[in-house]
Amino acid sequence: MAARRRVVFNKKGGVGKTSIVCNLAAVAARRGRRTLVVDLDPQGDSTRYLLGERAPETAPTLKEFYEGSLGFSLLPDRPLADFVHPTGIPKLDVVPSHRELGALEEKLQSRYKIFKLRDALGKLRYDEIYLDTPPAVGFFTVSALVAAERCLIPFDCDDFSRQALYLLRGHVREVAADHNPKLEIEGIVVNQFDARARLPQRLVEELEAEGFPLLRPFLSPSVKMRESHAAGRPLAVLAPRHKLAGQFEALYDALPG
Ligand SMILES: Nc1ncnc2c1ncn2[C@@H]1O[C@H](COP(=O)(O)OP(=O)(O)OP(=O)(O)O)[C@@H](O)[C@H]1O
Ligand SMILES: [Mg+2]
Repeated sequence: MAARRRVVFNKKGGVGKTSIVCNLAAVAARRGRRTLVVDLDPQGDSTRYLLGERAPETAPTLKEFYEGSLGFSLLPDRPLADFVHPTGIPKLDVVPSHRELGALEEKLQSRYKIFKLRDALGKLRYDEIYLDTPPAVGFFTVSALVAAERCLIPFDCDDFSRQALYLLRGHVREVAADHNPKLEIEGIVVNQFDARARLPQRLVEELEAEGFPLLRPFLSPSVKMRESHAAGRPLAVLAPRHKLAGQFEALYDALPG
């Protein structure tokens, strides 16, 4: 059976894309699902989160994969499987990013490589694939939207982010209409939700009234998240009994399918 492919997308920075990708992927792996994370962000945050200290020397990366597709690599057009690395967490692999990935963007765009990732992922054998994207709507984010069938949108309970949701929904619908009829918004992941404050409560009620599919549970703010990034180990591994780890488990179970 083909892998379930999820992209986590929001062009706003710091809303929790990487945290959601890596923690849901770690939950999936713990449930025995063969799981892959592809880090399409040149910042390489998922790469560091999953590989920890080994991140800088882990090669080849997505950069060499794309260089191969352009014909300027020693690894011309090799299958994506050659760029997959084990994370050390059972059943969880990663295709790492590289800080110079961004320099390829224009070339890849002008040479119509937008379907490269989709086609390459189709040849891999995984149960679930999670795609982390940079905070922009450029070549890499669109490639991920083209390659996925489900899209999760993190929402950080900010008034500006609420307005931006309409735009984000528009981007997803446009990519779906132009390139990927399978793509659906699976839901909005509410992150750093402070249940005691009034504004976040009001915002989520408004969004629900407007028909946005908010997934539950909402994720709490916790310093454990930063500790987990710093340790290079997702919460399901670092602190499986922590409240936030439990919320990721419940969120994974609540995903429509
Ligand atoms: N629920 C949470 N509680 C506390 N801190 C959080 C939570 N979610 C994310 N963070 C912190 O917020 C910061 C940004 O999170 P993250 O890197 O996941 O966002 P992002 O959307 O991937 O950012 P970017 O757009 O830069 O890629 C990180 O330092 C992370 O530890
Ligand atoms: Mg990120």
